[in-house]
Amino acid sequence: MNKKILVTGATGYIGSHTLVDLIEQGYEAVSLDNESNSSKDVLDAVKEITGYRCPHHTVDLCDYNDTREVFLQHGEIKGIIHFAALKAVGESVGQPLRYYENNLVSLLNILKLSQEFNVEAFVFSSSCTVYGDVSTSPVDENTPWQEAASPYGQTKQMGEKIIENVIPTTNIKAINLRYFNPAGAHPCGLIGESPRNAPQNLVPVITETAIGKRKDMTVFGDDYSTRDGSCIRDYIHVCDLAHAHTLALDYIFSKKQNKPVEVFNLGIGDGLSVLEIIRTFEEVTGESLNYRIGPRRPGDVVAIFSNYEKAKKELGWSPQYNVKDIMKTAWIWEKNRQKLLNI
Ligand SMILES: NC(=O)c1ccc[n+]([C@@H]2O[C@H](COP(=O)([O-])OP(=O)(O)OC[C@H]3O[C@@H](n4cnc5c(N)ncnc54)[C@H](O)[C@@H]3O)[C@@H](O)[C@H]2O)c1
Repeated sequence: MNKKILVTGATGYIGSHTLVDLIEQGYEAVSLDNESNSSKDVLDAVKEITGYRCPHHTVDLCDYNDTREVFLQHGEIKGIIHFAALKAVGESVGQPLRYYENNLVSLLNILKLSQEFNVEAFVFSSSCTVYGDVSTSPVDENTPWQEAASPYGQTKQMGEKIIENVIPTTNIKAINLRYFNPAGAHPCGLIGESPRNAPQNLVPVITETAIGKRKDMTVFGDDYSTRDGSCIRDYIHVCDLAHAHTLALDYIFSKKQNKPVEVFNLGIGDGLSVLEIIRTFEEVTGESLNYRIGPRRPGDVVAIFSNYEKAKKELGWSPQYNVKDIMKTAWIWEKNRQKLLNI
């Protein structure tokens, strides 16, 4: 029988791509989301791609009793992938309490229930923000953490610490996946990033500007100590990222994991600046972007990219898409999304 996996934040950007990968790899996925930054309509597209309609629960994880009902209803949940969180770095600087409450209470509730209902595998969405403002890259999993540059980053550092403390006292095995910068969309063009709130990540801001939804876009700072003055990040295609979650579950279920908690970086190991990303988009799509240089944005780190050797060696994961694929698929998705919004 296929193992049942509860995916929190499942109708969000990375969650929806992961549902597709899980289903294609033979897992039985259950979707949970409060739809604060997404819509369950994405499950229609997931069905169109995979042929399977996931059961869905519109539930806020901060509500312990409602979340417990989902566990009661589903019986044997073997694994959890915990995506649900608020994620906008800049917004978290202005709304720290909202971020701490949402991201930490939801994690505590899902951990308590994972223990009570004998879940075997727990995969947590962590982030390269845990490394803080590092002075050199690439960073590997042992790179010491600096002070996180934003309350959002703090919630990821605290989340990992909570997992490190709690998991060894349970029968659960956990994996913290530290994503670098997820971008792009499923190549079929049916799903992609479609937040309710205005996106703050670079690639959707680029595509929204190119399609005319925004009249221009701002590059936050060109006076950093980088090769062209703009911030450097490591962009990873969302389908590569999604597949890493399936491999993380496989790793735990096949008893390859000895330690209670493992940590893996997920990036492509190459740093590109904001201005280089803009140029790549223009080159790949033939569109020209209306952008201007603005002041630095609070909470942004200067430059960070990954060493992902551990994920390659242990999980058998390696990225299949490059930055041009990211731009191509993000642009196909943006054009489709605008058509869907106009219907
Ligand atoms: N996208 C990125 O750049 C990035 C980078 C590193 C880490 N992450 C982490 O990956 C995870 C998924 O990110 P995403 O880009 O798919 O974001 P997203 O906003 O598209 O998805 C998150 C989902 O969680 C839901 N959610 C939030 N709080 C909830 C709650 N209390 N109860 C139930 N549902 C709730 C939202 O409605 C949303 O659908 C997050 O934990 C995020 O912090 C994202």
